[in-house]
Amino acid sequence: MKRVLTGYRPTGKLHLGHMVGNLQNMLDLQSTYDCYFFIADWHALTTDYAKTGQLGNYIEEMVLDWLAFGLDPEKCTIYRQSDVPEVAELALYLGMLTPLSWLERNPTYKEQLVELKNKEIATYGFIGYPVLQAADILIVHGEVVPVGEDQLPHLELSREIARRFNYLYGDYLTEPQAKLSKGKRVPGTDNRKMSKSYNNAIFLTDSPDEISKKVRKMVTDPARIRRDDPGHPDVCSVFALHKIFTPAEVERIAEECKIAKIGCTDCKALLATSISESLADFREKRAKLAASPGLVAKILEDGAKRAGEVTRKTMKEVRTRINICPIK
Ligand code: TRP
Ligand code: SF4
Repeated sequence: MKRVLTGYRPTGKLHLGHMVGNLQNMLDLQSTYDCYFFIADWHALTTDYAKTGQLGNYIEEMVLDWLAFGLDPEKCTIYRQSDVPEVAELALYLGMLTPLSWLERNPTYKEQLVELKNKEIATYGFIGYPVLQAADILIVHGEVVPVGEDQLPHLELSREIARRFNYLYGDYLTEPQAKLSKGKRVPGTDNRKMSKSYNNAIFLTDSPDEISKKVRKMVTDPARIRRDDPGHPDVCSVFALHKIFTPAEVERIAEECKIAKIGCTDCKALLATSISESLADFREKRAKLAASPGLVAKILEDGAKRAGEVTRKTMKEVRTRINICPIK
């Protein structure tokens, strides 16, 4: 059985972008592959080491969202990165052999330095982000890594690091491949990519009321000013979401929009209903799970045990190959 691994930084509640982009992919994979899904809390520290107060809550929210969405700890191993200390040890060894130039030319690193200029992230930990990510993947011999397109440079670095290890210490680590989701780009309420940090996200846990409010504020076709102006669905973020959440009616909506038969208010009401309905099961399950105290802690504890068996085995071999082993 092929081994799958992916991680999420704990940023709190998941939104529709996660669902279409990656969660659905993970759900599909859990029944047919040996899946490792983990919460990357050390990675959260690379940018937010100065403000860790919410970390525990964020982790709990995220695991509850995973479970309510259908990830099943009987089928996949769900754990928290920091519960598996071998990952940090492998990251240390990999850091020894990773040229600084590989990290400095990483496009994500360069972008983030500019984008997050309100945070002091010109740190050792932040530039080492991809080394830690490589350790996450390589320590379980992850072969398939479901991620979004933004993670491709990191995956490439993981492969380069694995190759360098194998060149130095003999073939052992597995080069991972990214698996991109088939899902379309999910626009947020302002038509930029949906993201918590842009404040444009619809969360899986939003109530029908909150969903309606957010959808009502969504950006539509800017050329459609009056009710009887014909619309251009292809530039409209509401329509982009209809394609995902109202698939049976998209053609009718597009036609009626183009001839100004349907107005944006009605079109948005329809979308809010579609989104709410598609989250109805999730909402019910999420409420039940949240009412079981200790559930997340228990799942993470079990997951860490299972992951630990694999990571300890890998590290024994890694140490031997690097000659970090008992003196004879
Ligand atoms: N970098 C990923 C993100 O920002 C999170 C992550 C950490 C990850 N380690 C990983 C993803 C290993 C896949 C595999 O979303
Ligand atoms: Fe967008 Fe719908 Fe308005 Fe057309 S009718 S512009 S698809 S919100």
